[in-house]
Amino acid sequence: MAARPPFAATDAADEAVRATCDDATTCKRFATSKGYWKDSYVQYFVRSVGERKAPEINRGYYARVRGVNHLLDAFIRRTECNCQIINLGAGLDTTFWRLKDENLMPRKYFEVDFPTVVARKIHNIKTKPPLSKALIETHTTDSLLLDAQSLDSDRFCIISADLRDSSSLDEKLKKFQLNTEIPTLLLSECVLVYMTPGQSSNLLHWAAETFHTAMFINYEQVNMMDRFGQVMVENLQHRQCNLAGVEACKSLDTQKERFLRTGWEHADALDMMTVYSVLPQDDVARIERLEFLDEKELLQQLLQHYCICWATRDKLKLGLSQLAF
Ligand SMILES: C[S@@+](CC[C@H](N)C(=O)[O-])C[C@H]1O[C@@H](n2cnc3c(N)ncnc32)[C@H](O)[C@@H]1O
Repeated sequence: MAARPPFAATDAADEAVRATCDDATTCKRFATSKGYWKDSYVQYFVRSVGERKAPEINRGYYARVRGVNHLLDAFIRRTECNCQIINLGAGLDTTFWRLKDENLMPRKYFEVDFPTVVARKIHNIKTKPPLSKALIETHTTDSLLLDAQSLDSDRFCIISADLRDSSSLDEKLKKFQLNTEIPTLLLSECVLVYMTPGQSSNLLHWAAETFHTAMFINYEQVNMMDRFGQVMVENLQHRQCNLAGVEACKSLDTQKERFLRTGWEHADALDMMTVYSVLPQDDVARIERLEFLDEKELLQQLLQHYCICWATRDKLKLGLSQLAF
């Protein structure tokens, strides 16, 4: 077994990974302020709109949010909301509130992240009425748990855990009434890339072993072996952020294979350039009018270096492998 780096080094590396949730939320806050998509809740996690982001970044986030939501909503509709969702490395994501507003609430929505990120999220929920309102409205029993480390209500649960330790993750989720018998959607957006391929394989294997009817949606980097990919890796390294899982991000095939090797029956993957071209084109035309973009080359390169990969297991024969774009 490889020796772990000294505690201080590990902790600094984890701190840089934890900080990535602010990047994601700041970019989503800016893009929604420009009208790329609607999110009335992100403002409660990042107060100010902040510095201007390049149109390429905004369009990239638009494709990511629309693409992931397309598959997520298709799964919820296929199961008629008789399902649960586990958002792995959820950061400050607002999907729970969107699903509530759109009447697409699963039986239970779980989020997992590091303790400091979870503590911040819970603090925001406690102190911002528009966030706590949805929680109260979906809770009917008298067993609401709300402390710094975890939140557990009838329909929403936030857990502190390290995703690199799947046995402790399993134990914590079961403590909060995870149901391994109902269709389950697992989501990871820009999360697996921060783990070594061995650690992410363990997580995917745990998920396949635990749920007989499930879908896993993973959004992250792809085609990372070319010059553009190398520059992305170097830029993150300058911020002490190591893409430990970049090996699995070589190609769409390596992204699919990691699922097929860990017990998933079916896997598909599309780069975000392709996703962008199959999203509803009237809405794409709308967002392309929001900000002028003369030169498309950088946008294309950026979209070619991210992908959505989704995998399914389908004992209940719900036709999950047909869910696609
Ligand atoms: C780039 S952010 C993405 C956040 C969210 N998924 C989104 O798309 O807005 C990555 C998140 O994964 C979390 N994360 C990464 N590695 C983790 C691990 N080993 N255990 C728990 N959380 C982890 C980070 O703390 C961070 O919140």
